Amino acid sequence: MGDARPIGIFDSGVGGLSVLRHLRLLLPAEDVLYVADAAWCPYGSKPAGIIRERIAEVVGVLQARGVKLVVVACNSASTVGLADVRRRYPQLTFVGMEPAVKPAVEQTRTRAIGVLATATTAAGESLARLVSRFGRWAGAAAEDADAPAGRDNCRGVAVHVAVPEGLVELVERGAGDSPAAEALLRPIMTRWREAGVDVVVLGCTHYPFARAAVERLAGPGVVIVDPAPAVARQAARVLAAGGALTPSLRAGQTTFLATGEADAFYAIVSRLAL
Ligand code: DGL
Repeated sequence: MGDARPIGIFDSGVGGLSVLRHLRLLLPAEDVLYVADAAWCPYGSKPAGIIRERIAEVVGVLQARGVKLVVVACNSASTVGLADVRRRYPQLTFVGMEPAVKPAVEQTRTRAIGVLATATTAAGESLARLVSRFGRWAGAAAEDADAPAGRDNCRGVAVHVAVPEGLVELVERGAGDSPAAEALLRPIMTRWREAGVDVVVLGCTHYPFARAAVERLAGPGVVIVDPAPAVARQAARVLAAGGALTPSLRAGQTTFLATGEADAFYAIVSRLAL
């Protein structure tokens, strides 16, 4: 019994590797097919309609390759496209991502958390729903005139949201922990230190590759929440519940596919520790 077909996982680029490494640790016998939609990276600054079309296309590739589960290892894609691909591909099972607001709210002592996200995720319904459920908008997000209704809710944990523009591109170049990454994170982290933020959520799968820079700037005692381990556990639970774990006892293989500049992608894959 069981299901020996591969798990499909995708992101706009290398960000999903932060999820893949936890998936590999948890399910070492599974074969995995990783797709990086590098020709369209970054997703997070593109219109939702374009991201949605890209996701549908990539999921089509994964389906054609016979995957048993699709892990959407991208917050931006999950925010704008997960519901759509679930509708378009009803025969596939999906595990998606959402910003880890709930675990952050559970860990804060100062009642102030920060979420680092792409523009798409920061403006998305999924984050809005989580903030209104577990906290209240704080800082610049609370003053945003285009913000969804509910941002003036003044109960609960203060949720600061910031978009470190350009960080995805730096991670794609292997420079997530670099003076350039620090320079664009510094103003955000300085504001958050002043606001007493003691938990920082990495709300984009690229950001774990900038974790060292975030940690240095956040200061001592600040907890960094990376949702990747929880997503890998969810994938394992879904497979186990469906009787779809591989029966194989050998080490699983990971196959990488990329759209666009495949050479650049493969060079970075080998630099980022798996
Ligand atoms: N890594 C993705 C995310 O989690 C996408 C980043 C991007 O392409 O902008 O949002």
